[in-house]
Amino acid sequence: MHCVRKVTEDLYWIGANDHRLALFENIHPIPRGVSYNSYVLKDEKNVLFDTVDWSACRQFLENLDYVLGGEKLDYIVINHMEPDHGASLEEVLLRHPEAKIVSTPKAFVMMHQFGFAVDSHEQIQAKEGETLSFGRHVVTFVNAPMVHWPEAMVTFDQTEGILFSADAFGTFGALDGKLFNDEMDFEKDWLEDARRYYTNIVGKYGAPVQALLKKASGLDIRMICPLHGPVWRSNIGWFIEKYDLWSRYVPEEKGVLIAYASMYGNTEAAAQALAAKLCEKGVTNVAVYDVSNTHVSQLIAETFRLSHIVLASVTYNMEIYPVMHSYLSDMKGLNVQNRTVAIIENGTWACKSGELMTRFVQEELKGMKVLDEKLTLSSALKEGQADALEALADSLAASVGEA
Ligand code: FEO
Repeated sequence: MHCVRKVTEDLYWIGANDHRLALFENIHPIPRGVSYNSYVLKDEKNVLFDTVDWSACRQFLENLDYVLGGEKLDYIVINHMEPDHGASLEEVLLRHPEAKIVSTPKAFVMMHQFGFAVDSHEQIQAKEGETLSFGRHVVTFVNAPMVHWPEAMVTFDQTEGILFSADAFGTFGALDGKLFNDEMDFEKDWLEDARRYYTNIVGKYGAPVQALLKKASGLDIRMICPLHGPVWRSNIGWFIEKYDLWSRYVPEEKGVLIAYASMYGNTEAAAQALAAKLCEKGVTNVAVYDVSNTHVSQLIAETFRLSHIVLASVTYNMEIYPVMHSYLSDMKGLNVQNRTVAIIENGTWACKSGELMTRFVQEELKGMKVLDEKLTLSSALKEGQADALEALADSLAASVGEA
């Protein structure tokens, strides 16, 4: 049975939702599922924009058949060849031998790398700024390299102001019947997943995203059709603003993320004592996470959201606690920068974690400031360290106030 939604008079969403996949890219948990979006434009020519993950192929093919209604498929525009969108291409080609493929030169190379039989089809290499007419609709191709793969492009439908944005402006979360951003409370129910999606999938590539946003600012965009999550037809500027902040590594909010690594609860107790002190001083935008039971993708998303980070870690084998080290490595991998950091270290003997975390932050990350005040625990925070705790909280509160 088909499951499609009309986007505009000529455009249909023919994607699918996936609640069975536990880990996106086999690494990021997606408890709310994910959607793979694909679109069909019906004009004098019928045009398919991207396909779906292999797991959703059957539903997608039923949807495509339904929307085409026996008509032929003239063009397939591939904006992004990552398999969560490109995997079903070959199945479409088998069923529509007359379809021409439009994509970037790098994407055609990838189609061959993935072993897709594309050579019996006409291949049209989309060049930056080139247009193609499908009848009433005329589209322009815009390269979007490294957002977040090198072959990516976006396609702009000049006729109706629709941007087919590939992964840009996507989010985790299955649509479950809804399609448009105004059919949901996005800020309340989706923003967290959108932030986690962006920061972990695209976060490393802030400069290419900025380049795309610059190009997009010259277009009269009235609708955004991404490859994951809702179609944006209102409040578009609000979401673009989030992308602008994330891709410039500017915090969305003044506030403190306290990430702690604790083996027996003593470092955790210090983290909680600091959180309470901060709130007492009026800094209530405080989020406390145990790195051992919080997925690193959530830690990264929160790191992009907040202006200040407290790293609280035990010393383990004379090193930073492994899970904390993994979080720091992800920060580096995803290009996290421009945050203020405070350190809490703990060691029952030979306490090293503070020195090591400070060095990592200063040497491996860009634009980070480490506060002078530091809290050192010998196994546990003592009453006699109340002044040191107070000083750390004062320093953080002052810095948050200035941010
Ligand atoms: Fe949703 Fe980069 O694939």
